[in-house]
Amino acid sequence: MKSEDVKEIKESVRQHYAGLIKTDEPCCSSLTDCCPDTDANGAAEKNGYTEAQISSIPTDAAEHSFGCGNPLECMDVQEDDVVVDLGSGAGIDVLLASQLVGESGRAIGIDMTPEMIERAQQNAKEAGAKNVDFRLGEIESMPVEDDSVDWIISNCVICLSPDKNKVFEEAYRVLKPGGKLVVSDMVTNNMPAWAKAAVSVWVSCISGALPEDQYLDSIRQAGFENVQVLSKSAYAKMRQVEVASVKVEAVKPV
Ligand SMILES: C[S@@+](CC[C@H](N)C(=O)[O-])C[C@H]1O[C@@H](n2cnc3c(N)ncnc32)[C@H](O)[C@@H]1O
Repeated sequence: MKSEDVKEIKESVRQHYAGLIKTDEPCCSSLTDCCPDTDANGAAEKNGYTEAQISSIPTDAAEHSFGCGNPLECMDVQEDDVVVDLGSGAGIDVLLASQLVGESGRAIGIDMTPEMIERAQQNAKEAGAKNVDFRLGEIESMPVEDDSVDWIISNCVICLSPDKNKVFEEAYRVLKPGGKLVVSDMVTNNMPAWAKAAVSVWVSCISGALPEDQYLDSIRQAGFENVQVLSKSAYAKMRQVEVASVKVEAVKPV
């Protein structure tokens, strides 16, 4: 992809999510049916969070669940672990991870949209979470040290990146040997040319979605092993484009 196209996509994505959080829009996008509920916790419920998870975090964080799954479901996160969430939005997964890692662990969110970082910090303050850290940055060049992290999670974000290979290479760099990547994301096997070219559709997690095989190959190429799809379900349909939500796990070899 040309560098000016990458720049345009990133800027549009940033503006889109800054707009969503500023206007308190509870939906991922008006283009998809990803969030048909308008009540406070509808989005989080649709994304598979349990009632216990939803009630354990500030309402604002649950209300602004812009993901397409629940990456923390069934994860064996331990006390003391360090978890990094790529594209942390208003903080839902970082706040839930912070409960699992305890006081001596750390949950770190990375997001390139300043308005999201600000909202996530407010939500962390309201939650009284002291073991969290929200960092402004891009997931293609993560502000995180090499070999320092036990888990990388992400929820409906990598599909928005114009350089997915770089994201997975960075995830590999920052994970400790034996560390795991667990991501919920969008994939599609039928992307018409008009949708691929439309930035307005890209920002809604659609145009950037790869075919599942390509997505898994990109993870393997970065060096990950045991790459497996843990679950998959139909997620949204927009005109001819059908996107599925997949949850994928992979391990950085020791
Ligand atoms: C669909 S929202 C998901 C937010 C959050 N994961 C959740 O589940 O609510 C996408 C988020 O990723 C961020 N984002 C998109 N592309 C990014 C990139 N290349 N680097 C860092 N953040 C990015 C956006 O700013 C936005 O907050």
